[in-house]
Amino acid sequence: MKPNPQNFTEIKHPVIARDLTILRDKRTDTANFRLALSRISTILAYHALNNIGLSSFEVETPIQKTTGYKLDTNIVVIPILRAGLGLVDAITTFVPDARVGHLGMYRDEVTKKPVDYYVNVPDGIENALVLVIDPMLATGGSACDAIGFLKSKGAREIRFICLIAAPEGVAEVQKHFPDVAVITAALDERLNENKFIVPGLGDAGDRIFGTT
Ligand code: PRP
Repeated sequence: MKPNPQNFTEIKHPVIARDLTILRDKRTDTANFRLALSRISTILAYHALNNIGLSSFEVETPIQKTTGYKLDTNIVVIPILRAGLGLVDAITTFVPDARVGHLGMYRDEVTKKPVDYYVNVPDGIENALVLVIDPMLATGGSACDAIGFLKSKGAREIRFICLIAAPEGVAEVQKHFPDVAVITAALDERLNENKFIVPGLGDAGDRIFGTT
């Protein structure tokens, strides 16, 4: 099951390879898990902001006038709670004025389907680049639920950023939302019988927040 390369990016980078190993290692404690997550998130954010619009203006250096640039894209970041919160700082590092909405959903352990529990999305997403962020793309249920909701609210340009994706989850997003770019640090092997990503890193939310 190979993703359609059209709208799928798996970022390969030595720092990502090293940090993914830290995240996958079950001995990694919460503090080091967060640090590695933060470093990878920054690289993902950098790539996800590729091709965004710039506008130019004249700026004066100590030597002479030259052309300067500013980001000309209205960006809305939507973490899927809880675990998506772990990626917010990386994006707002590059785009401090990005607005942040929240979608609360968890995956029911029996049905494996997403359950919504909180929604707070800024106005004006129809004119924004909407970055939906969640460390894990497993069955794709949460991602599709989130993307479908945001589209129903008018979002037109959506990119989905995750640390680890299962081929099944990427296929699900690509089937329902072929226009949504998926950017990940790792395309893993598969889902297991409990719909956990293999080899994966376990439950990202629990590992970020130190819960079980
Ligand atoms: C995890 C993960 C995704 C979802 C992925 O969240 O962070 O949101 O599961 O699974 P899916 O692709 O099959 O929908 P979880 O339910 O563990 O909630 P949490 O973020 O509160 O830990």
